[in-house]
Amino acid sequence: MANSTRRVNKAASFARVLWGRCNSEPAVTVRDPLTSSERLTRWNSWTDGESPDGKRTQWFADVARASGPSTTVVPGVREPDRTGDDMGGNPAAAAERAAMRRALVLAATPGVAMVADTRRVGCVLLDDAGRTVAEGHHRGPGTPHAEADALARAGAAAHGTTAVVTLEPCHHTGRTGPCTEALVRAGVRRVVFAEADANPVAAGGRAALEAAGIEVESGLLADEAARLAEVYRVALRERRPFVTWKFAATLDGRSAAADGTSRWVSSRAARLDTHRLRALCDTMLVGTNTVAVDDPLLTVRDEDGVPLDVQPLRAVMGERALDPARRVFDGDAETVRLRTRDPHVALADLAARGRQHVFLEGGPTLAAAFLRAGLVDEIVAYVAPMLLGAGRSAVGDLGITGIDQAFRPVVDDVTVLPGIDGEEPNVRLTLTPRASGAPAPRKD
Ligand SMILES: NC(=O)c1ccc[n+]([C@@H]2O[C@H](COP(=O)([O-])OP(=O)(O)OC[C@H]3O[C@@H](n4cnc5c(N)ncnc54)[C@H](OP(=O)(O)O)[C@@H]3O)[C@@H](O)[C@H]2O)c1
Repeated sequence: MANSTRRVNKAASFARVLWGRCNSEPAVTVRDPLTSSERLTRWNSWTDGESPDGKRTQWFADVARASGPSTTVVPGVREPDRTGDDMGGNPAAAAERAAMRRALVLAATPGVAMVADTRRVGCVLLDDAGRTVAEGHHRGPGTPHAEADALARAGAAAHGTTAVVTLEPCHHTGRTGPCTEALVRAGVRRVVFAEADANPVAAGGRAALEAAGIEVESGLLADEAARLAEVYRVALRERRPFVTWKFAATLDGRSAAADGTSRWVSSRAARLDTHRLRALCDTMLVGTNTVAVDDPLLTVRDEDGVPLDVQPLRAVMGERALDPARRVFDGDAETVRLRTRDPHVALADLAARGRQHVFLEGGPTLAAAFLRAGLVDEIVAYVAPMLLGAGRSAVGDLGITGIDQAFRPVVDDVTVLPGIDGEEPNVRLTLTPRASGAPAPRKD
């Protein structure tokens, strides 16, 4: 296959991964991401090999088989059914549920930069038999909303369809016209949405649709839609991008070997996983020293190392001059220099560029600066079964001198990543920093 064709196909298949904030149960779950779940998550969204444009990739299924049996160690977490078996045997309801999952995946298409007041939204149009007529998603400020995108693709075939949308259709004229009017004009028969629009400016969609005689149902997969929207909510509230800090460390908390020979401390499975998480974000952020030492590409690549055709912005923070031959300055994605050491200034700059979700990949100095500034919203840590005994700590000085001052994030999820090609498993922890001043949990 020509490289360009393969690149497009891989990029499309990779869009399946965009399930950043929809994967975790409220309680800690420990599971094998590749084999245990039918739920639409960061992980299993690839296992069925389905991609948004209908192309298929076998890779994740192959990985799942190679990984052997599930390593789930906390049983009893019931995964919601997506086959329709728990829909009382109602095929129409099952089709709408499956379409909503699809719409959620579409909503999280990679690389799309959203300013803080714009939402990730996906839409699937179904015919009476539950077949997909067209799909759409929002691509950022000023572009058609998901419904308008799907309607445009469907053309006349939109008449009589059910529109399955992740967010209540808007009823106002902003940068684009009201989606309610577009749905009515197109002759859509029924609308199913996941999350009501709490934005008072855009609200009223349901009432307008019902007034026009369209059947409306809401709340389908609303929890998952709400998790998808968490990044948007934080970005809107804080007027800065949501920040996910990702790091990899050895058992003794080292992020790199003392002599600098450790390009990676985590396993291949963890690194692939990182690429999936990168694809959730619209900005990659590192400090100047990581660029100087590691010379990272900071692109999102598939399992063959092929970059996706839509890439997050690459941002390098720090004041020193850098060699323009560093790979981060190649043409594979846009790169900006943030010539500051102040995390607030850096995020303000990124917000002004319309960025909503930053993936902070270190190193330890930059991570410490963001933690100290209270500017980390989510932590993803990969722990590798390895000891170094020396080398850089995963995070720099946090100004903590006593155990009572320890930074204690809340654990949202613990997942075992089975090794690929004989490597040992790595463990991924997803954590939420506690609001400053919140009490630490007592173990006794
Ligand atoms: N295991 C992992 O997950 C992981 C991830 C990334 C990196 N690493 C490793 O980390 C090492 C590099 O770590 P690092 O901490 O030296 O690199 P870094 O955090 O990427 O960069 C540090 C540099 O960023 C600039 N900077 C920007 N904001 C700053 C602030 N608020 N405070 C202080 N400096 C600021 C400073 O340089 P200026 O003089 O330019 O301002 C500083 O020297 C490498 O060995 C790399 O392999 C590991």
